[in-house]
Amino acid sequence: MHILLLGKNGQVGWELQRSLAPLGKLTALDRHATDYCGDLANPEGLAKTIRALKPDVIVNAAAYTAVDKAESEAGQARQINADSVAVLAREAEALGAWLVHYSTDYVFNGEGEQPWRETDATDPLNIYGATKLAGEQAIQRHCSRHLIFRTSWVYAVRGNNFAKTMLRLAGERSELGVINDQIGAPTGAELIADVTAHALYRAMAQPELADLYHLAAAGETSWYDYAAFVFEQARQSGIELTLQQLNPIPASSYPTPALRPSNSRLNCHKLETSFGLQLPHWRQGVARMLNEIMEQKQ
Ligand SMILES: NC(=O)c1ccc[n+]([C@@H]2O[C@H](COP(=O)([O-])OP(=O)(O)OC[C@H]3O[C@@H](n4cnc5c(N)ncnc54)[C@H](OP(=O)(O)O)[C@@H]3O)[C@@H](O)[C@H]2O)c1
Repeated sequence: MHILLLGKNGQVGWELQRSLAPLGKLTALDRHATDYCGDLANPEGLAKTIRALKPDVIVNAAAYTAVDKAESEAGQARQINADSVAVLAREAEALGAWLVHYSTDYVFNGEGEQPWRETDATDPLNIYGATKLAGEQAIQRHCSRHLIFRTSWVYAVRGNNFAKTMLRLAGERSELGVINDQIGAPTGAELIADVTAHALYRAMAQPELADLYHLAAAGETSWYDYAAFVFEQARQSGIELTLQQLNPIPASSYPTPALRPSNSRLNCHKLETSFGLQLPHWRQGVARMLNEIMEQKQ
């Protein structure tokens, strides 16, 4: 089996390089690749790459993920998250290949308190969410063998993430306000990559599993409680924090160019039952990530 991975150096892409490796030959590209084009801003180049490599599976971990910047760069976001994804879908279909892709809970408007199901009506609040929804729809329209995973609040040891930012701020400031009225589940790139490899393996033997699935860690939290958990873990590891006071604040007191949903909960029952999986609690993955970060620091 030959797998073409796009976006190999993103949070999820990096972990996919590890989790997909045992499944077959892996060609992993980023946008700067020279042998083949891996740039989602270059649809013709992408189509040429796919026609030349003839992969059995295309895994697209590349995306325009700058949520606030997308409000002023809608054209670029649409090109990368939707138009080029449509090209991937058409090329995959022409080859009879699988297309694996990632989307987001930002396709929903964040109303209510129930975890979103795959069948719930979409209604994105921002440009990023709208372009990601258009990408999903293009795949559903053009490529029969697809796995689309909507996920939320992604973190990884590599690169910047919320927990690292919180740890840095807690070393610099005595008081900190963190949003407490947006609820979701921090989901590790490692978990997403491992579930992808498992699901892909199963789906290739059972093509009727081709579909869109919600994929997030179990449990739920606010950014405020997530931060409190990070600080508790840090203190338990013997790290001294300058922070004395953590204050819950409403999202309305921290305005950003893009609106974000209050309810980012995803119901992952369909994924668990379809693929025989049990998604671990978010605290497990976050504790593991913090362990690795703190070991690197010491
Ligand atoms: N991060 C989250 O909280 C979150 C939440 C829900 C869903 N998702 C979805 O999960 C998937 C993986 O996200 P992630 O967290 O791994 O994002 P990420 O770390 O931002 O990685 C995205 C990757 O896409 C690459 N990219 C951007 N423009 C490109 C282009 N024109 N051509 C090729 N590559 C390009 C980036 O490369 P550069 O580094 O060179 O820019 C980066 O390596 C995405 O589909 C995202 O929409 C993410």
